[in-house]
Amino acid sequence: MSTADLIWHNGEFVAWEDAKVHVLTHALHYGTSVFEGVRCYETERGPAVFRHWDHLDRLEASAKLYYMELPFSKDQLREATHDLIGRNNLRSCYIRPVAYRGHGPMGLDPEANPVEVSIAVWEWAPYLGEEGKKHGVRAKVSSWRRISPQSLVPHSKAGGQYLNSVLAKIESKRGGYDEAILLDDLGRVCEGSGENIFVVRDGRIATPPQTASILDGISRKSIIRIAADLGFEVVERDVARAELTLADEVFMAGTAAELVPVREIDDIEIGPPGEITRQIQQVYDDALHGRDQRYSEWLDVVAVPSKA
Ligand SMILES: Cc1ncc(COP(=O)(O)O)c(C=O)c1O
Repeated sequence: MSTADLIWHNGEFVAWEDAKVHVLTHALHYGTSVFEGVRCYETERGPAVFRHWDHLDRLEASAKLYYMELPFSKDQLREATHDLIGRNNLRSCYIRPVAYRGHGPMGLDPEANPVEVSIAVWEWAPYLGEEGKKHGVRAKVSSWRRISPQSLVPHSKAGGQYLNSVLAKIESKRGGYDEAILLDDLGRVCEGSGENIFVVRDGRIATPPQTASILDGISRKSIIRIAADLGFEVVERDVARAELTLADEVFMAGTAAELVPVREIDDIEIGPPGEITRQIQQVYDDALHGRDQRYSEWLDVVAVPSKA
């Protein structure tokens, strides 16, 4: 991971090394933060943030689900992000807005703690590697179940909830795999540690529904639309664990990882990236980089001129 010169912190631009929080920041102790993972791509029209409004909407929704009010509007956050990308002279980058309960009273009631907001940007290669995108990754069904809506809020991209993904990720890595696949509390396929999942069987595509404790992924939404435009049917339905290994093709998708084929699950070979995965991956990559006019409305071109 590379660094950038500046970070946006509560309305100010500060040097990367000066973007600090107090040790009694509420979120550090209790996980009371919500965040987004967004990407900006170099396109012919300039750097462009992919589905920026959708990410800002989800940030606001994540906050609402944890009784948190963002002290900046979505317009302000969008403008700050554009400005930050320009000031850091970046053509493409990962963008991490985070809103968190700051330093204030200690204890579990966070409502008197200020909500602080930071935005960081940096250059970041696809999370599971270019090789993974090309040749597919090896995944393991985790012994950890995805957080249940009976205890937490799967629809919120909240900091504390990621302890669940962290456990699954460590387990899969230590076991020699690239990624974890989590089942939900009822044993149905849910998603990866940071990606939604798709299963292709007999030419039809299935992905777990909103009710299966997934994060409502923005890549997922994009892929459902692209697959439909390519003439494939995507059914949002429960997926049984056995369908993972009986599938003709499996792929995962998330902002950090982009679209990644899965070539092996639990030491059972699924095979090299299949034809349907490849077709969708190609169009998705074109959409991200502004090469497909059908999806140009997904790109929020960065208007701020770069400052040297
Ligand atoms: C747990 C989890 N599921 C799914 C996703 C995919 O979401 P998106 O496509 O919006 O990045 C992510 C990444 O944000 C994630 O962390």
